[in-house]
Amino acid sequence: MSQHYQHDVLVIGSGAAGLTLALTLPEHLRIAVLSKGNLANGSTYWAQGGVAAVLDDMDTVESHVEDTLNAGAGLCREDAVRFTVEHSREAIQWLIDQGVPFTRDDQTAREDGGFEFHLTREGGHSHRRIIHAADATGAAIFKTLLEQAKRRANIEMLEQHVAVDLITARKLDLAGERCLGAYVLNRASGEVDTYGARFVILATGGAAKVYLYTSNPDGACGDGIAMAWRAGCRVGNLEFNQFHPTCLYHPKAKSFLVTEALRGEGALLKLPGGERFMQRFDARAELAPRDIVARAIDHEMKRLGVDCVYLDISHKPADFIKAHFPTVYERCLDFGIDITREPIPVVPAAHYTCGGVVVEQNGQTDVPGLYAVGETSFTGLHGANRMASNSLLECFVYARAAAADIIQKLGEVSAPSNLPTWDASQVTDSDEDVIIAHNWDELRRFMWDYVGIVRTNKRLQRAEHRVRLLLDEIHEFYSNYKVSRDLIELRNLAQVAELMIRSAMQRKESRGLHYTLDYPQQLPEAKDTILQPPTYGD
Ligand code: FAD
Ligand code: SIN
Repeated sequence: MSQHYQHDVLVIGSGAAGLTLALTLPEHLRIAVLSKGNLANGSTYWAQGGVAAVLDDMDTVESHVEDTLNAGAGLCREDAVRFTVEHSREAIQWLIDQGVPFTRDDQTAREDGGFEFHLTREGGHSHRRIIHAADATGAAIFKTLLEQAKRRANIEMLEQHVAVDLITARKLDLAGERCLGAYVLNRASGEVDTYGARFVILATGGAAKVYLYTSNPDGACGDGIAMAWRAGCRVGNLEFNQFHPTCLYHPKAKSFLVTEALRGEGALLKLPGGERFMQRFDARAELAPRDIVARAIDHEMKRLGVDCVYLDISHKPADFIKAHFPTVYERCLDFGIDITREPIPVVPAAHYTCGGVVVEQNGQTDVPGLYAVGETSFTGLHGANRMASNSLLECFVYARAAAADIIQKLGEVSAPSNLPTWDASQVTDSDEDVIIAHNWDELRRFMWDYVGIVRTNKRLQRAEHRVRLLLDEIHEFYSNYKVSRDLIELRNLAQVAELMIRSAMQRKESRGLHYTLDYPQQLPEAKDTILQPPTYGD
């Protein structure tokens, strides 16, 4: 039987953003943190390179701000960039205080006897400013924060719980606009339960799973973006999908990223014949921002008709490679590639959703009581192209800002009451799940082919036509059959794909990650693409 639960704060998502927010709230609050799979299910666990922050005495806030603005191709909101960078040092200190085992640099013993942390470099950064835990930074952060959360009696960690939709005053025809909770599928019981909360946080990650080839884990389906849109929130800049230049190319390697920190430490991109090519595209060569490197690889692969290019770090000492990149070294070895001796076959793959749910500097969305933090949000930090390792930083800075805002508002908000239970009286068990699998494949393939690294009007029109047909079919399926995780994800992914295509069609220029053959020039004025849901501002 369907259950009813009540919390002060409902956090949907157990990645860097969700855990940081939960841990920053006071211990007298009752908090639930949901994950739709196991707790390590999000992108956070897989993050390799590290977290960008101004930590070196020779580095400056100005320099980090300027690099971010440059990488963002004129579209970053400078106040968001400044806010994030100015809070970077304290966010890292908070992580260190939680116990994150960042790699120390024994080369640079300090006068006070302590040790500096090792800082690496990635594309677009003019300084070494990426703090990391070897090449498995996300796992180190996730494990530490989860351990802390499990020690807190007020935080309930609920895995295999899939948020289906938000409950808002508007949807219930009540006075006001507030978000009051969410309907959540408990995968163990198969029931959709009602979660009432004074504050609801979307920390659901990105939507790169909308593409056939991606570096992301399976759950990156844009659930938070779709739920917020249906609840009446605006979304921004969803045409800017970042393709990571270097994912391992091997028939059996699903979604394995080869960290940009390899290029930061001197790895070179080469064509199958061994010739370097990046210097033909940008003076920064291998360390140009990602949009430029991914497009250059795509161009060379198409020009030469080859399946991949190569990333070569074999000129560095084997001990250095094994110490700095143990994860990449081991994983490649699993596939018979010894990176200390030979180049790594790589291809670009969808990696990061730069746009998302429009939020203010405190994470507040357009619906009172509803916050969005981390990759699911659109803060204005990334502009038309996210700079490497700014994403985790954004998770920490904005989650902490959202927590501070909630603390301030605690006295004003009481618990919602009498929320209706989920109505499953009109639906039956599905006898045709093949439709879900088929539609998933179709969606991800046409998004890859038509809304990928290089776009045209015609490709976008084709994609738009197909996504509308899919949305109708999915809507009918959703209205008639019981919800499952696959159906919920497909419904959300198709909705987010439609928003991405619509955003791409509105942008009549090429800028950052959005490159179209029909409008190859960049317009003089940089403008965000903000979409308003039909119910916005009624
Ligand atoms: P995630 O960590 O993705 O977590 C999302 C959470 O939401 C999960 O717990 C999931 O179960 C839950 N969820 C989603 N939908 C629902 C639902 N409907 N109901 C319930 N729960 C739900 N960035 C950097 O800055 N530096 C790096 O080095 C770096 N390396 C990366 C390497 C890889 C391979 C990848 C994929 C990304 C990398 N990124 C990196 C990007 C960065 O890791 C992500 O942007 C960031 O971790 C996102 O964190 P998040 O908390 O927003 O979401
Ligand atoms: C990487 O390690 O290359 C990923 C870094 C990022 O996505 O910021």
